[in-house]
Amino acid sequence: MNPRLVGLLFLCVCTALAESEYIKYKDPQQPINTRIRDLMRRMTLGEKIGQMMQLERANMTPEIMRNYSIGSLLSAGGSVPRPRATPEDWVNMVNSLPKWISL
Ligand SMILES: *[C@@H]1O[C@H](CO)[C@@H](O)[C@H](O)[C@H]1NC(C)=O
Repeated sequence: MNPRLVGLLFLCVCTALAESEYIKYKDPQQPINTRIRDLMRRMTLGEKIGQMMQLERANMTPEIMRNYSIGSLLSAGGSVPRPRATPEDWVNMVNSLPKWISL
């Protein structure tokens, strides 16, 4: 067999194995304490701290949210999408937030 083909095959097998890793905290069949313990074990200290943080929307950027694993977002009084915002502006703002995380 061609050595390059063997290398490619090896790479494919490794990729498939990595993708099929069992992640206990994502398994709804596991007891909740088991899932929490597994997730906590996988998170870094920085991620845990970030998840306990809440920033005001106007001071948040997708980059900050991603870099610091920010747990939640506050839209405080007076923090509007734009002056005299319409309901549609609010809906668009809220709907844009999940995209920040997946950027
Ligand atoms: C986010 O992380 C990137 C990559 O490490 C870095 O270049 C950038 O300055 C960071 N931005 C902020 C706001 O922390």
